[in-house]
Amino acid sequence: MPFTIIPEPALIRKRDDFLEFFEYTGLPVIEGDFQKEASVLKEQFAPRAEPPHSPAFSGTDAARKIVCKKDEALKVEAYALAIGREAIELRAGCGRGAYHGLQTLRQLFLSGEKIPCAHIEDEPRFGWRGFMLDASRYFYTVPFIKKLIDALSLHHINVFHWHLTDDQGWRLPVPEYPLLTDIGSKRVERRLSGAPSIGGFYTEDDIREIVSYASARHIEVVPEIDFPGHASAILAAYPGLGCTGGPYRVEDRFGIFDDVLCAGNDAIFGLADAVFNTLARLFPSPYVHIGGDEVRVTRWSRCPKCNKRLADTGLKNMPELQSWITVKLVSMLAEKGKTAIGWDEVLEDSPRYMLPKEVVIMSWRGADGGKAAVKRGHPVIMSPNTEGCYLDYRNCDDVEEPGQWSVSTVYQSYSMNPVAGMSESEAALVMGGQCNVWSEIIYAGRIAEYMIFPRIVAFAENMWTFRKDFANFAQKLTVHRQRLDMLDLVQYRGRLK
Ligand code: ACM
Ligand code: ZN
Repeated sequence: MPFTIIPEPALIRKRDDFLEFFEYTGLPVIEGDFQKEASVLKEQFAPRAEPPHSPAFSGTDAARKIVCKKDEALKVEAYALAIGREAIELRAGCGRGAYHGLQTLRQLFLSGEKIPCAHIEDEPRFGWRGFMLDASRYFYTVPFIKKLIDALSLHHINVFHWHLTDDQGWRLPVPEYPLLTDIGSKRVERRLSGAPSIGGFYTEDDIREIVSYASARHIEVVPEIDFPGHASAILAAYPGLGCTGGPYRVEDRFGIFDDVLCAGNDAIFGLADAVFNTLARLFPSPYVHIGGDEVRVTRWSRCPKCNKRLADTGLKNMPELQSWITVKLVSMLAEKGKTAIGWDEVLEDSPRYMLPKEVVIMSWRGADGGKAAVKRGHPVIMSPNTEGCYLDYRNCDDVEEPGQWSVSTVYQSYSMNPVAGMSESEAALVMGGQCNVWSEIIYAGRIAEYMIFPRIVAFAENMWTFRKDFANFAQKLTVHRQRLDMLDLVQYRGRLK
């Protein structure tokens, strides 16, 4: 009898007997502490007319129970389960651990198999187990994002990084800058005859709903606003913030563009201030991601204002102006009580405007940025595009597979080692890892699901467990796939390596 839990718990001691769980209808009674987390589990199993369906509990209404107990001795995300013949006891130090424990049970309930009596102790290896969705290149709906967040939480993923702005669309309402959404959230698809305008933005209510839905599932929502590059949507709305004054457009092409925010124009910080105030109001996370990737200096080089800024700051070359901007943004965020995260390009700073040590580096161009960052004392999140973290890449090397740029296998998502080649003190700065979906050609939630599952399942086990074993994972996946089916998630079913 398999005992299929993903991610693999730290310790499982199985007994020979079974919880006679599926002999009754309805949900188990959940008693004791952590009633907030219990109510989410009940919601997850509420019968529905539409998919996702709940497991077919059957039989009599015997009073089998889950008893939840607070146990201060357990670490924040840790939990312990004692599965007996008559009842289950769940212990956790706080709601986060309790939620993880309940999701482990949810997996077992979804399988509809007999559950062995057992003692389980569990806690994560890494604290940052993230997933990023690009909602700019494709504007995903609120129901899809909620469905995704719920599914991520089944696997103990605990960060949803929400990429809210890019060249192809601005998705965040900022009261002081209404044109960001009035103009910047829509683009004209010029390749299509009739040129329809597509896009949209999340309202404050949408954002609150997603943050609160995620928070009930113990997932932190980290917003990303890209400065000073990937700014076409900003410039289309406020052309005065660019070096040339335009004309600009919300891009319907994909790539890296020359037009970025003008480093010589103080007004870009007025915009940043308003954006950060909005983020501080809507997102409780201590982190704000400021992007910083793929910034071209073509326009800065020929811009009188940018050249004046270069002279005023005493910097030697145009790329150094990005670090001047980044340092300013970082301190603006710090004043609002937020810590900045940046893509690894922000490490390419100047000695004059050194990046403050508290800035978190998200390493995406392979692992080198992360390795360099820990040497300089920065906290790091590993998300190397070379090692299984880019889920918009094809699942295998087959022309019929959807996806862009490259290939990234389930096995790679399982194998990425965020602390490879690091000393103990360097490794201590690694917060964990993250998978990303860039959505240039992932133009539907259903396609996103296919790209995300099961690679994120492999990644979740990779980031969580102390007991990695790919052969065991691959075997468990055959059972776990049925759970993903029950949750109505499209999944890739081809080879894993
Ligand atoms: C990135 O993939 N440009 C962060
Ligand atoms: Zn300029």
